Amino acid sequence: MATDQQQQAAKREIVMSGIRPTGFLHLGNYFGAIRNYVKMQEEFECYFMVADLHSLTTHPDTKELRSNVERVLAENIACGLDPDKVALYCQSHVPETAELYLYLNMMAYKGELEKTTTFKDKVRQHPENINAGLLTYPVLQAADIILHRAKYVPVGKDQEQHLEMARNFVNRFNHRYGDVFPEPQAFNYNLELIKVPGLDGKGKMSKSENQMATLYLSDDDDLIRKKIMKAKTDSGPTAPGTPKPDYIENIFALMKLVSAEEVIKKYEADYDNCIIRYGDLKKQLAEDMVLFLSPIREKINTILPDKKYLKQVMEQGAEKANKSAGATMNLVREAMGLKYF
Ligand code: TRP
Repeated sequence: MATDQQQQAAKREIVMSGIRPTGFLHLGNYFGAIRNYVKMQEEFECYFMVADLHSLTTHPDTKELRSNVERVLAENIACGLDPDKVALYCQSHVPETAELYLYLNMMAYKGELEKTTTFKDKVRQHPENINAGLLTYPVLQAADIILHRAKYVPVGKDQEQHLEMARNFVNRFNHRYGDVFPEPQAFNYNLELIKVPGLDGKGKMSKSENQMATLYLSDDDDLIRKKIMKAKTDSGPTAPGTPKPDYIENIFALMKLVSAEEVIKKYEADYDNCIIRYGDLKKQLAEDMVLFLSPIREKINTILPDKKYLKQVMEQGAEKANKSAGATMNLVREAMGLKYF
């Protein structure tokens, strides 16, 4: 007899997402994505994949691929993703991906692929390398997702078009060969769409040109302090009721992520009373940020050199992903009439 817990586990809905191995995750990635993965791992059957094959569409030089893959694994684990709870794996370790990608390519039309926003952007950025893999990037992504018959895909707004395309491929497949795949949909814990602004007052934190505006999970304590102390401020409000300029609003927004409520209240009150000292505000934020980020960084730094552990994580992830992919591909081949014996 299965225990209640096993029955619960058997019924869990399936979640899949891909993480590009670009390395060096930042605070925006943490609050925007990873923290949701960590929460989802308790509630869903999760497949989290390092999209190493996708990176070949724009980065054919693989010299740094291995270290980028290892870093992304280490950083996600350091943030709380548990390889025992989820399938944390590399795309290239699941060869069925390529098979499903091939079948889906027969259902993807040149016109719709050429219209994809990310394709058009990349054509502009890399006019010297407009390859077929770039054109069919959304097909590969759809294969990643439906290979596990996933229902939910935790991704940001920039991936919505790819998901819509995945749904179109699913519908065409199901219509032609019979119901095999659920329609995948974007997933967000929409209660908390958190803003993680950069330190330069210019929009959100990103792997931007301005490294000083972005706090990376692997920044050391002094660099965190330095970046925060450099954030733009002014001489402070002189009349009560003055609205906060964007760059001050941003400092408070960052504080809300890592500081205690009383601390934030104190500085809000100081602002309202026009006695706020921005130097102190930034020092406080810097210390709270160091307390938040340093344990993550230390974990990253212990995981990264442990090649044996990383190999074991990859093997364990590949095993789970292969099992799920194998079961799906049996259904696919059967549905498509490709099982001759
Ligand atoms: N295209 C996604 C990105 O740029 C990465 C990705 C690859 C992905 N395969 C996926 C995301 C499957 C969700 C599901 O971030």
